[in-house]
Amino acid sequence: MERICLKGVNKSYKDKEVLKNLTFDIQGSFGLLGPNGAGKTTLMRILTTLIPFDRGEIIMNNHISWKDHNVVRSYIGYLPQHFSLYRNVTVVECLLHLAVLKGIEKSKAKVEIDSLLQEVNLQEHKKKKIKQLSGGMLRRVGIVQALLGNPRLLVVDEPTVGLDIEERVRFRNLLRKLGRNRTILISTHIVEDVEMTCDYIGILKKGEITFTGKKEELKDIVKGKIKEELLTIEQADAMGNQVISLKQQDEQCLVRYFTENRDLHTEVTPTIEDAYLYLTKKGE
Ligand SMILES: Nc1ncnc2c1ncn2[C@@H]1O[C@H](COP(=O)(O)OP(=O)(O)OP(=O)(O)O)[C@@H](O)[C@H]1O
Ligand SMILES: [Mg+2]
Repeated sequence: MERICLKGVNKSYKDKEVLKNLTFDIQGSFGLLGPNGAGKTTLMRILTTLIPFDRGEIIMNNHISWKDHNVVRSYIGYLPQHFSLYRNVTVVECLLHLAVLKGIEKSKAKVEIDSLLQEVNLQEHKKKKIKQLSGGMLRRVGIVQALLGNPRLLVVDEPTVGLDIEERVRFRNLLRKLGRNRTILISTHIVEDVEMTCDYIGILKKGEITFTGKKEELKDIVKGKIKEELLTIEQADAMGNQVISLKQQDEQCLVRYFTENRDLHTEVTPTIEDAYLYLTKKGE
């Protein structure tokens, strides 16, 4: 599967530096996790060659450089964070049009669209107009357009925003399936998105990569640092940004929090969410 290496990648908008010296590898199913404004979409747009970067190098499979736009583009399918489709045409008409724009011959496109619609479970809706689709269905049409031409690298920006819980779960399962035989890069600020769909995680904070590795390695960062205790609201308030979550229990609350003091009685098994919050809150 495709492997992308970033070396010292920088990007500024005017004099604001939004990506700082990014050096890491993308492989397998990779989730780029970061809060709003961290620079995720900027990085996705660089990786899809839509915008240039200022310094550094991006190389795929040790020999394809991001300077060769056209070669890189032939490898990539992209589902942007905000996308729109022709509203008054049917799903099939819309996809056929996009396939022809991508340079796929019409009769081949028809066969490909048919099998992709099957793969994303949209066959029964293919004659509906785009404007009649739910948010989840629209996202699935978006995935089909990204998969036209069978790209080796699929880039998906904020896949589950605006979807209800059921659609979210279904879309995550689809992404998981698509990641089995191609490299897939997903950016999100929702921890469950990467938890369910990705094997590798990168955390982006204010334009800097603060972690890359496997999910288990991420949890290890906060091993022994997470506790849960029954406390009063006042005690919890006094803990400030050490607190991860609170659950009301009668007069008290069950507080989940970070601490450097080990105590086996109150220690709990860390989750990816704990580790993500720990890394994003660190130093603030
Ligand atoms: N075209 C632009 N011109 C100037 N600044 C921009 C531009 N696009 C993004 N920015 C700024 O760059 C920073 C990173 O934005 P970006 O959209 O990449 O973040 P993000 O991680 O995708 O956020 P979100 O989770 O909200 O989608 C933000 O501070 C944003 O205001
Ligand atoms: Mg974004």
